[in-house]
Amino acid sequence: MSMNVQKFMSLKGKQPIVVITAYDAPFARIAHEAGVDAILVGDSLANNVLGFSDTLPATMDDMIRHTQAVRRGAPDAFVIGDMPFLSYQCSADEAIRNAGRFLKEGGANAVKLEGGAVFAPLIKRMVESGIPVMGHLGLTPQSVNVFGGYRVQGRDEKTAKKLLEDAKALEAAGVFAIVLEMVVEEVAKQITESVSVPTIGIGSGRYCDGQVLVLHDVLGLNPAFQPRFAKRYANLYEISLKAISQYAEEVRNRTFPAEENVFKLGGS
Ligand code: KIV
Repeated sequence: MSMNVQKFMSLKGKQPIVVITAYDAPFARIAHEAGVDAILVGDSLANNVLGFSDTLPATMDDMIRHTQAVRRGAPDAFVIGDMPFLSYQCSADEAIRNAGRFLKEGGANAVKLEGGAVFAPLIKRMVESGIPVMGHLGLTPQSVNVFGGYRVQGRDEKTAKKLLEDAKALEAAGVFAIVLEMVVEEVAKQITESVSVPTIGIGSGRYCDGQVLVLHDVLGLNPAFQPRFAKRYANLYEISLKAISQYAEEVRNRTFPAEENVFKLGGS
C-alpha cells in the first residue's frame, strides 16, 4: 500500500520514518525508488537549487512548479509541499488558497508550514478544508532575520517550554506530523514523548520519530556546506566535476564523439 497521512502517522513508535527533500523529477524518482517514506519539496529549493542564500525568495509559483516535477518523477510517492515565506502569514483565506494549490496544481499529498501556536487556528481551518498539514518548529528558516542567524533552539528552560507548548498546540490543531529543526536533543525527546503525532527531526538528535535531510547535503552537492547534523553519503560534487571535466577533455582531444556515438548514411 502506498503511503498516506494515516499510514505515516501510524509509523510513530513502530519504525523510524525517513523523509528527504527533492526538487525535481529525476531525484524524486531516485528517492522514491530508494524507499523513503515521504518526499518534502522544501522551500530550501531557494538556496539549494535557485542559488539564493536563504529560503525567503521562494515563491508560490516556484514551489508549485517544482512540486509538479517531483510528482511527475515519483507518481506514487507521498509528497509534501512546503509553503514559502508570506504564502500563509498574511491572511487565512490566502493561506488556504495557496495550500490548496499544492494539492490541486502541484499534486502534493500534504503541505508543511513553519510556526507555533499562533498558526494553530489557521492549521485547524486547513485540515477542516481537507488539507493535511505538517508543522515545523525550532529553527524555522523563514524567520532567520528574527533569530539573527541559524541557531540551535531550546537551550534554556523558557524556550524549551515554549517549544513543547507550540508542539501541543499544533497537535491539537490537527497536524499529522511536526518537523523539529535544530532543537537540542533532550527537548526534542521530550516533545516526541509528549505528542501523539510523529516528530521528524533535522539536527534534533536521535529520539525523534523520524529524520529529514536535505538531498543536497546527503549527496554532497555543495562542498562549501557541510552542517554538523547532516551526513554526506556521497560526494556528487566531486563525481560531477570529474565527469564534466572528462567530457570537456574528450571533446577537446576529439575522442568524443566516437564511432559508436555517430549516425551514418544508410545506418540505423
Ligand atoms: O525546506 C526544507 O528543506 C525544510 C527542511 C529543512 C525540513 O524545511
